[in-house]
Amino acid sequence: MKCFAVHSYKGGTGKTTLAANLAVIYARMGHDVVLLELDFQAPSLHTLFGVRGRDAYMNDYLSESATWDDVLVDLGDNYDLDGLLVLGFSNPDVDEIRKQLAKDRKWHMQAISQLLVLKERLRAEGFDYVIFDSAPGVHYSSVNAVVASDFTVVVAKIDNFDFDGSIALIDQLYNPLERRAFMLFNKVVPPLLTGSRPAISTAEEVFKDKAEILGFVPCYCDVPLAMGSEIQALSQPDGPFATRLQQVAQKIAEIDVAAKHGT
Ligand SMILES: Nc1ncnc2c1ncn2[C@@H]1O[C@H](COP(=O)(O)OP(=O)(O)O)[C@@H](O)[C@H]1O
Ligand SMILES: [Mg+2]
Repeated sequence: MKCFAVHSYKGGTGKTTLAANLAVIYARMGHDVVLLELDFQAPSLHTLFGVRGRDAYMNDYLSESATWDDVLVDLGDNYDLDGLLVLGFSNPDVDEIRKQLAKDRKWHMQAISQLLVLKERLRAEGFDYVIFDSAPGVHYSSVNAVVASDFTVVVAKIDNFDFDGSIALIDQLYNPLERRAFMLFNKVVPPLLTGSRPAISTAEEVFKDKAEILGFVPCYCDVPLAMGSEIQALSQPDGPFATRLQQVAQKIAEIDVAAKHGT
């Protein structure tokens, strides 16, 4: 089983979009996939998957007020997939978001234990991929997602905000936690991908010796045009966005989880 967090320094880099599409791509390939939303600040997966009014959320499982059976929902039957696609949503209610943001360190220490118990259960049940869609930055819940994962996929744009922020995360969060980071550049404006590609060379130079680069995903207008209610890997599986992400999915599949941090 491979378990990875999709994380970033800043918000809006495309974590949720990429995590959902990667989950669908793996499930279409016949893998059994669990996608857990650990972004309690801005829950979004329910919008993307069109799921409303759950009785129990990841917040409840981590608080030990619901079991994983209450929280996890198998969406595989809704789509034409060869593998399982199981989701755990976080609670989008504004009061619940406020409550969640007020949780203290002690609560988050308990939450990481709950997360690790769930991960081991999913491993025992034979799931192939567990993906955490996390909040940006270094709040406890993001750190927990990183700690519970085998490695982190860092979604960044090609700009100095994300270069500096991602390097800070690598140096000050992932490395001390001994978690390998893999950069995934998203929303890359097409002119940067043609010609002599100086921006791409800069990214390669900046992250050399820091993190492997999984790929450069162009900015496609089709993605925002779908207004957050379409998963391209389902609606346009052979389109350019899904095709590019299939290559990323393949690279992630090739990551050796057993390789030690720093190797
Ligand atoms: N490759 C892309 N090209 C164009 N727009 C994108 C791309 N990836 C994501 N987006 C858009 O960016 C916005 C933020 O994406 P989202 O996945 O919610 O980011 P995050 O989870 O990092 O906050 C959404 O409107 C989404 O449709
Ligand atoms: Mg998100």
